[in-house]
Amino acid sequence: MSETVTHRTDREDFQATRDPAVMESADTGQVNLLTYQQLYKLWERQQWATQDIDFTQDRIDWHERIPEDERYQRMYGLSSFFIGEQRVTDELGPIMRAAPQEEVRIFLSTQIADEARHVAFFNRFYEEVGVLESDSLNARLAETSEHLSPNFHILFDEMLHSRVDKLAREPEDTETLVEAITLYHMVIEGMLALTGQHFIISYNEDQGTLPGFVEGFNNVARDEHRHVAFGARFLREMAESDERYREAIQRTLVECGPAADGVLAPPWYEQGMELFGVTLEETREFAMKALERRLKVIGLAPVA
Ligand SMILES: [Fe+2]
Ligand SMILES: [Fe+2]
Repeated sequence: MSETVTHRTDREDFQATRDPAVMESADTGQVNLLTYQQLYKLWERQQWATQDIDFTQDRIDWHERIPEDERYQRMYGLSSFFIGEQRVTDELGPIMRAAPQEEVRIFLSTQIADEARHVAFFNRFYEEVGVLESDSLNARLAETSEHLSPNFHILFDEMLHSRVDKLAREPEDTETLVEAITLYHMVIEGMLALTGQHFIISYNEDQGTLPGFVEGFNNVARDEHRHVAFGARFLREMAESDERYREAIQRTLVECGPAADGVLAPPWYEQGMELFGVTLEETREFAMKALERRLKVIGLAPVA
């Protein structure tokens, strides 16, 4: 069984986010989640620059050491992340505006900057490594989108987009805000992004490939743990304040479950295939364990 706390997430800077998924104590529901102000201060201390990363070896690895069929398989993960980061950057504005407290709006504004940096990271990786023929951000996004799964569009372009559009029109609709944060922070970032990041980073470390990508992707993962830690705090407060919000969280998890599970498998997946060195079952197990820990801390799952 895959453990959610790894040698990487055991690092002090990952533990500093207090994302329940990387804390063993979350199994008993015991995590002192950071306040919104503490999360903001952590953001100030955890800055990094995409321009500092050296992709020289990555370019050699991609073209000379990774076989063509493996490059094709890797395009599913790369494309889902590149476009996923672009989608969440563009959707977060109305969520930030709809948040009822100033501290929350300040934290979410830092998160918009983070998501934009994640897009810039992928754009720079594609450019420096020469992943595609396209030579602009918009053209790369269009070209790489050919690799996505139909479930990706259901989750991001239908389920998330419709809720964000509603919030843009009706920012006082707190129930839709809770649904949007459940989908964005618990499902997209917590279950999908952090699971993919874990297995993709470990696979590259084992293979000794793409060192620049691994360095940057670790920074992205640390940011995501901070975002999810925010989500856990916000949803716990909302769940405690009103039964209506508890139901909104549960309803959203049930509704988006099939599409989220679908995103874990590429369109070309066949039964029994390994993805980044692990089975789909193992990937699912990791994602569910992380969700379960966070739900325990939010107060929506029974504690051990
Ligand atoms: Fe991100
Ligand atoms: Fe994020």
